[in-house]
Parts: sequence; C-alpha cells; structure tokens
Amino acid sequence: MRDRKRARELAAEFHRKGDPTGWFEVLYREAEEGKSNIPWADYHPTPHLVSFWMEHPQETAGKSALVTGCGLGDDAEQLAAWGFRTTAFDISETAIRNTRKRVPNSKVEYQAATLLEPPKVWRGQFDFVFEANTLQVLPAALRPQATKNIAAFLRPGGRLLVIARRREPSDPIGEMPWPLTRAEISAFTEHGLEEVTFDIVPDVNEPEVRRFRVLFQMRDSATQQQ
Ligand SMILES: C[S@@+](CC[C@H](N)C(=O)[O-])C[C@H]1O[C@@H](n2cnc3c(N)ncnc32)[C@H](O)[C@@H]1O
Repeated sequence: MRDRKRARELAAEFHRKGDPTGWFEVLYREAEEGKSNIPWADYHPTPHLVSFWMEHPQETAGKSALVTGCGLGDDAEQLAAWGFRTTAFDISETAIRNTRKRVPNSKVEYQAATLLEPPKVWRGQFDFVFEANTLQVLPAALRPQATKNIAAFLRPGGRLLVIARRREPSDPIGEMPWPLTRAEISAFTEHGLEEVTFDIVPDVNEPEVRRFRVLFQMRDSATQQQ
C-alpha cells in the first residue's frame, strides 16, 4: 500500500488556504530533502500505458507527444523511446529539475508549467497527449478547465489517452486522490474529442481500485476551443 499520509496532509492544508495546487511543489521539495515520499513515483512507466500500447500500437514516426503532470518523467521517457518527439510538463519545478538530473541525456523536452494555464504555443500542436492521474489530484471544480486545456493541445486527428481512478457518482469522494466519474471522463467529448476505446481496468497495486483508460481522438473538422 502506498504511503499517502504526508501528501494528504499537504493537500488538505493547501485546500484550506485556497491554493489547491500549491502542495505539489512542497511535497517534491520535501522528498528531495529526504523528509517525505512521493506516493506516485514508481520509477517505471505506467503499466496501463504499456499494456495499452501492446494492444493498440500507435504511429509515432515524425509525430509529437505531450505528457501532462509528468512527475519524474517515466511515461515521457517511454513515449520518447517509442519514437515520439516528446514534451512533458509538471507544475512542480523541483520535479522537473530532478527529472532532468535523473535522465541527463533525455530526448524529452521537460518544462515546468500548469495545466490550468498552459503555454499558448502548445495549442493544437500535438499528435498524442498522455494524461495519467493529474485530473484526480485536482479538486472537481478545477477539472472542467483542465479537461478543456488538455483537449486543446491536440491537432485535428490527434489522440489523447487518459488514465484516472474511477468512482460511481453515488460513491463518497473520499481522500486525495479523488476518483473521477464517467461524466467527468466524458467531458472531453464536449471539446471536439470522440471516444475510440474505453476500458475499465483494475489498478496494478490496489486491485480493488478501478481505473478508466480511455482513448479519444480529435475530430478532423473540430475547431479548437477558446
Ligand atoms: C498523481 S501525480 C501523477 C504523476 C504521473 N502522471 C503518474 O501517473 O505517475 C500528479 C502530477 O501532476 C502534477 N500536477 C498537479 N497539478 C498540476 C497542474 N495544474 N499542472 C501540471 N501538473 C500538475 C503533480 O505535481 C504531480 O506530479
């Protein structure tokens, strides 16, 4: 079982202060100093990304990918190894600095940025976007903006793979990480995306937890949302 105690304390403290994304940098800094752990740092690519790829290999030659909330970069490195020209970002400057240090010869372009106000130059630029587990650490009120911004990264015809914890609307919201409902996942379709594949998969470490794993595609004719 992952140790989420400190992450949950910080999440609660920053929510009380009205700064729901301020705790990530603090947690990464504490981890750098050896005082805390990063509960999601596995140091290997997300297993449900790898199994998805085995079942549905995607075209990568000459294509670009973006990883949202990339943490310590394992998924970004995997996408680059599969052949994408890869960009990856995280809100935590410490996470980005440590990732660059950990993979000094990386081909991935790592950048500190926030999903809630991403660089405008990324709009409509990517053939493939990978989002795993960032939406579920944002409070529900911030997810619609994050969802819209993720969709806006895609070129017409580009694909988005999303992985997130799942809950029924009647389930309690519980503690961070806060699972998403089907409606929150389907909200991508309000921004020009169509569902291509839809899976509910058991978490690898916590088999009682279920995850959405959904591939979307941006309609060719979709005009990018504002
Ligand atoms: C639960 S972790 C998941 C990390 C990685 N995607 C994975 O699946 O292992 C969420 C990550 O998103 C980052 N994050 C949180 N809010 C963000 C935001 N608004 N913009 C960019 N990154 C964010 C956190 O710093 C953290 O590294």
